[in-house]
Amino acid sequence: MNDLIRLAIQKSGRLSEDSVSLIKECGIKFNNGISTLRSPSSNFPLELLFLRDDDIPGYVSDGVADAGIVGDNVIEEKSKEIQKIESLGFAQCRLSIAVPKAMEYAGLKDIQGLHIATSYPKILSQYLSTNNIKASIHEISGSVEIAPGIGLAQAICDIVSSGSTLMSNGLKEVETVFKSEAILISNPNLTPSKQDILQQLLFRIRAVNKAKNYRYILLNAPDASIDKILTILPGMKSPSILPLREKGWSSIHSVVKENEFWKIIEDLKAAGAEGILVLPIEKMII
Ligand code: PRP
Ligand code: ZN
Repeated sequence: MNDLIRLAIQKSGRLSEDSVSLIKECGIKFNNGISTLRSPSSNFPLELLFLRDDDIPGYVSDGVADAGIVGDNVIEEKSKEIQKIESLGFAQCRLSIAVPKAMEYAGLKDIQGLHIATSYPKILSQYLSTNNIKASIHEISGSVEIAPGIGLAQAICDIVSSGSTLMSNGLKEVETVFKSEAILISNPNLTPSKQDILQQLLFRIRAVNKAKNYRYILLNAPDASIDKILTILPGMKSPSILPLREKGWSSIHSVVKENEFWKIIEDLKAAGAEGILVLPIEKMII
């Protein structure tokens, strides 16, 4: 039998676009668009299910989906029986307590006794009890940030990403309760053949994500500068050095981390590097 895995991703929201892009970058193609609720791949044994993010941990633990991509905040709040496979490096955000801008806030004790609106009652109550704070939690499922403005609560605990939602609702972030990002999860009892497909998917995801952090760098340098330049360039193994047509000059090819590149660029120039090219890498398997 030709097995496949069902991968649940968020239908619409902060994770949707990046989840679909990641799967596409893994070379997995879909014929019908993402407007349907399920979409089978034409070249990989995988079917995408488009669901509300809050439902994903439950569906994965029940086996309706074999795996899913969902925020750690939702995983933590729902606490279903699932396995965390890999942090995916996108949809970074934090679950924070926020209060009206005008409120004086000196520390967590100022939360004592307040009414806090949130969609994350479980994470919040754990946080408050760890910090010995008593407050009353009002669970609401959406538009949490308007609660203080309409007199429903005096504070909120909600997801903050850019911070613009808080700002436009006259709120300020005062405590970080939980840090989150997108995570690949799976059902803990997959059959060996589904396990195998998940591992193939994971292999591709790692190759794609690793490549995102690196750049391919090419530069020209006088031969006399090569040793100096090699001490600056943290190559993966050993850089390639190719002679140029112009005598006494070489081309050096290597791989650098994107964030390190900006730190070493001035040093490379000072050491004599010229014609520096930096290119994206699509996949990286090491
Ligand atoms: C969160 C939160 C805010 C928004 C904050 O929603 O509820 O509305 O993101 O983002 P910002 O700081 O960039 O303005 P989320 O995507 O988690 O919504 P959901 O409840 O629909 O899953
Ligand atoms: Zn949600």
